Amino acid sequence: MIKGMIKATGPFERVVHWCLALSCLLLCITGMGMMYHSLNFVSTLFGGMGNMKVVHNYGGLFFAVSLLFAIIMWWKEAGLFSFPEDAEWIKAAGGYLWHVDNVPEVGKYNPGQKMFFLAVALFGIGMVASGLIMWFPLGYSVDLVRWMFVLHALGYVVIFAFFFVHLYLVTIGAPGSAPAMFTGWVSRAWVKKNHPKWLKEMEESGTLVTYGKGKTSGGKC
Ligand code: HEM
Repeated sequence: MIKGMIKATGPFERVVHWCLALSCLLLCITGMGMMYHSLNFVSTLFGGMGNMKVVHNYGGLFFAVSLLFAIIMWWKEAGLFSFPEDAEWIKAAGGYLWHVDNVPEVGKYNPGQKMFFLAVALFGIGMVASGLIMWFPLGYSVDLVRWMFVLHALGYVVIFAFFFVHLYLVTIGAPGSAPAMFTGWVSRAWVKKNHPKWLKEMEESGTLVTYGKGKTSGGKC
């Protein structure tokens, strides 16, 4: 760790993120292995189709718990849009798609990240609900259970598509992001560029934690 780096996430946030991310990826891989005959070979990794289904179903329960923690942890910062600055950022596409001289300043999460969080939260809940109904059809009508297959497939497409955008943005799109979810420490330049308002808020409230310096106070750092 380099002196002066800024603390972006705590251990709890990182554990929740990775439980959500890894369970999501496991579900995507096992789900594809069940859905497409050409990908059935994936089941050999799990000792057969029956085992893979068990891994998928229980992995789904793990995903459900991780999602619950993620929603509780992130909904205030990543689930609510703040106007007018978020609308301004959206109009400028955050400067990602064309050149923008002054990208509107945003806080800890920009509107693109908020949309990703909301997509994961809403479609994730849909995936858990539809998955449970398919797993335990109880007395539900055949039509309802059939619609759950459609919802499950739709949720899969949305989350998987967003996942690739997320992966692109935290690596190539906004280099320097990944350490936020690995070590928790990011460079000051990265925070200033990607979350300037958040940096100011932390400096003003004295909650900014810099590596080798601890918490700042009274707006100094
Ligand atoms: C496996 C590769 C992944 C990597 C390297 C990765 C990395 C990251 C990083 C660096 C951040 C912080 C970004 C920032 O503060 O600017 C983040 C946030 C987040 N990640 Fe991931 N992530 C991965 C997979 C996933 C998956 C599969 C999901 C969901 C199913 C997910 C959900 C989230 C959410 C909801 C946030 C917070 C809000 C947001 O930034 O949109 N991540 N991730």
